[in-house]
Amino acid sequence: MKPIHVGLLGIGTVGGGTWTVLKRNQEVITRRAGRPIRIVKVADRNLDLARKVTQGEVAVTDDAFSIVRDPAIDIVVELIGGTDVARTLVLEAIAHGKHVVTANKALLAVHGNEIFAAAQQKGVMVAFEAAVAGGIPIIKALREGLTANRIEWIAGIINGTTNFILTEMREKGLEFGAVLQEAQRLGYAEADPTFDVEGIDAAHKLTIMAAIAFGIPMQFDKAYTEGISGLAGDDIRYAEELGYRVKLLGITKHTEKGVELRVHPTLIPEKRLIANVNGAMNAVLVKGDAVGATLYYGAGAGAEPTASAVVADLVDVTRMHTADPHHRVPHLAFQPDQLADLPILPMEEVRTAYYLRLRAKDQPGVLAEVTRILADLDISIDAMMQKEPQDDETEANIIILTHITREKNINQAIARIEALPTLSGKVTRIRMEELGK
Ligand code: HSE
Repeated sequence: MKPIHVGLLGIGTVGGGTWTVLKRNQEVITRRAGRPIRIVKVADRNLDLARKVTQGEVAVTDDAFSIVRDPAIDIVVELIGGTDVARTLVLEAIAHGKHVVTANKALLAVHGNEIFAAAQQKGVMVAFEAAVAGGIPIIKALREGLTANRIEWIAGIINGTTNFILTEMREKGLEFGAVLQEAQRLGYAEADPTFDVEGIDAAHKLTIMAAIAFGIPMQFDKAYTEGISGLAGDDIRYAEELGYRVKLLGITKHTEKGVELRVHPTLIPEKRLIANVNGAMNAVLVKGDAVGATLYYGAGAGAEPTASAVVADLVDVTRMHTADPHHRVPHLAFQPDQLADLPILPMEEVRTAYYLRLRAKDQPGVLAEVTRILADLDISIDAMMQKEPQDDETEANIIILTHITREKNINQAIARIEALPTLSGKVTRIRMEELGK
C-alpha cells in the first residue's frame, strides 16, 4: 500500500518522540492505519539536531515553507510552537491542500477559528489531540466518546509544571519561589515560567476543551486566568487541615446564563480522585448528563506521551484521508454551522464557594464585624478556623469557608473586610469546588 507522506516541522522534544514512536511501532501503526505513515521531510532551525535524530534517513531542511508547499507531502505536523510563524505555516499548509496535525494549544486557542474556517473551506483536517493534556486522549473522548451527552462541566489539572510545584509545596512544606527554582533545575519549568505558572498554558487548553464540549468558538481572550505564583505555603497547609487539596484547575461550566471559562488555584475535597493527582501528571474530569462524571489521567507532557497523541492523529487523518470531508468528525465536535453563540460569563457572574484567610487582631468583636459584612452580602459561612498568633505575632490567621455565592459579592466583601481597622494586609481568596455532581 502506498505510504502517506508526512512533513515534520520541528524535531525537538515532541518531534523527536514522534520520529521514535512512528519508527518503533511502525508495524502495528500500519496495521491500524491501513497504510504506512512515513515522515519524508523534516524542518528544523537546528539542522545538526535534525540530522542527528533522523540519521540521514530523510531529507532535512531549515526552510519550513519548503515542506508546507511540497506537493509530495500529504500531512504537515506542526511542532514548532508559538503563534506567529506557526499560524502562517499552518494556513499555508491548508492553502496547499494538506492536512495538519498540531500540538500547538496557543495557536488553536488564539487563531483556531480562522484556522478551522480555512480547513473547512479547503476540505482538509486539522487534528490536535496533542494540544491538550499531552498523551491523554481527551479530545477524542470529548468529541466522540461522549457525543451522546450534554456536557455539564469540565475540571482539569492540565498543566504539569504547576501540579509538580503544588505537590512539592504540600509534601515538603516549601514556598512557591523555592519550588519553582527546583522545578527549573529539574527541567519541569522553563527559564521563563510565566505561561505555566500564571495559568496561561492551562487557559489555552481549557479554551479548546470548552469549544469542543459546548460547540462554541475559541474565546481565549475571555478566559479568566489566575496562576499559582501568589499562593502561600500556609494556605496549602490550612486547606489540608480542612480536608482539601489546592490544585490549579481549568474549569468550564455550562450554565443557564452562559459558559464559565476560568483557570485558578482551587480547593478540592481530598477524597476526590483528582485531588490525588500528583507530580507533573494531568487529569481531566468531565461531567456528562448521561454518563455522569468520568476521569482521564496520564502524562500531560514529555516526548513519547505527547508523540502518542500526535501519532494517533496521524492514524486518524490517514484513515479519513480519502473520505468525503462532510463525513468526517467535525473539528469542534459540532457541525460548523451549528456552533452556539453562548456568552462567556464575566468572572463577577461566576458562582462558586470560597476559602478566605484574613489576618486580624486577636480581640473581641473582630469576627463579629467580618461575619456582619458577609451576612450583609448574603454570603453564608460553611466553616471557620482560627490559627493563634505564633511567637512574636500579634495577629491571628482566620480562615473562613463560604457556601456558594457570586464572585461579585465576594469581591465586595473582601473590599469591605480589608477596610476594617482591625484587619491588616490583604484578604487571601481561593475558590473552592466540590466536583461531586
Ligand atoms: N508546559 C506544559 C505543562 C506542557 O507543564 O503541562 C505542555 O503543554
